Amino acid sequence: MIEKALQQAAVSESEQEFAILRDNFNRKISYMRISITDRCNLRCTYCMPAWGFEWMDRNSLLTYDEIFRLVRVAAKRGLYKVRITGGEPLVRDGVVDFVAGINAIEGIREIALTTNAVLLKKYAQGLKDAGLQRVNISLDSLDPKKFEEITRGHVFWKVWEGIEEAERVGLNPLKINVVLQNGVNDMEAVDFAKMTIDKPYDIRFIEYMPVNDYEDWRSKYIPVAEIKERISRELGELLPVTEKESDGPSKNYHLDGAKGVVGFITAISDNHFCEKCNRVRLTADGKIRPCLFSAIEVDFLDALRNNCSDEDLDLLFDQVLGIKPQAHDLDKFSEEKMLKAMVNIGG
Ligand code: GTP
Ligand code: 5AD
Ligand code: SF4
Repeated sequence: MIEKALQQAAVSESEQEFAILRDNFNRKISYMRISITDRCNLRCTYCMPAWGFEWMDRNSLLTYDEIFRLVRVAAKRGLYKVRITGGEPLVRDGVVDFVAGINAIEGIREIALTTNAVLLKKYAQGLKDAGLQRVNISLDSLDPKKFEEITRGHVFWKVWEGIEEAERVGLNPLKINVVLQNGVNDMEAVDFAKMTIDKPYDIRFIEYMPVNDYEDWRSKYIPVAEIKERISRELGELLPVTEKESDGPSKNYHLDGAKGVVGFITAISDNHFCEKCNRVRLTADGKIRPCLFSAIEVDFLDALRNNCSDEDLDLLFDQVLGIKPQAHDLDKFSEEKMLKAMVNIGG
């Protein structure tokens, strides 16, 4: 009798393990980045072209209910973290209710959002109350004029108010993303790092990834190792922060006695991150992209709009697992492989 119960337990354990989202390289997929819109209220130079960008057809945008269904199915297979992205996610109507809906899904334990913070002052409290835990905010310059050049938007102070409001309502840790461009904002790196002495923010320097304009990328790319050296030289040693299992692509340090963290995302120079990659990306028009820099995607929209069963969705998730590449090869980058825009993938 006991033996049978043990046998059954073993079977159900292995069945459960079978159902877990695990790719061909034995990586568990526990994190989905969900882009809820490809629209944005800014137009950062490193993210999208100034003109002539074609937006997604509105009818092909997943409804919130369709997204909830996908997340529910994936959460049964081990998904527990969701990051809401865009475009700019706060431009889509109903985003607070969307967060509440994700928060109500069994198994989802972490909800974060990546935003440009233009609308954050208005939404921070509501988002926090709806279950959002934290935000990552893009801020590429501390100089309002430079900020305007990079983002093509006249909103520096709005963003700053958004950051302060996020801190006030307790969305933390509060992370600030700085995409580094040589000759544009690299000279501000030390000032950004200095901010962490008094502010409890994670300032993360991100290597410029090739998007939209190859020549621009080639002329402005700067490895973050140079920036790290500059910061240590001017502000003192950067002490490593102990890594947590849930940590993403950022390698984190702190200055002695500082309240915040200085992080480096070596998207180009050292893709150490791929081997523990735990994420997939859902585009606003219902495709799952297993790797940021792989154009291969699996379409879920069609199935969702044609009465598919949860088992059908499971099979589509299995396809995603089957095509997730072992690593991207951005270090061997060529013009043909370049992304047209980041705005429709969500970073
Ligand atoms: P947390 O670790 O959860 O705070 O989030 P994150 O840093 O992964 O997310 P965020 O949206 O703030 O992205 C920061 C930068 O990391 C952006 O430039 C992303 O494009 C980049 N990034 C995120 N995921 C990946 C990835 O899988 N591969 C690569 N190469 N870059 C990534
Ligand atoms: N290279 C690196 N990071 C980028 N992001 C957008 N475009 C690029 C790029 N070309 C970042 C934004 C945002 C995050 C989602 O992706 O700064 O913080
Ligand atoms: Fe908009 Fe973010 Fe792209 Fe800037 S980086 S254009 S804020 S989506």
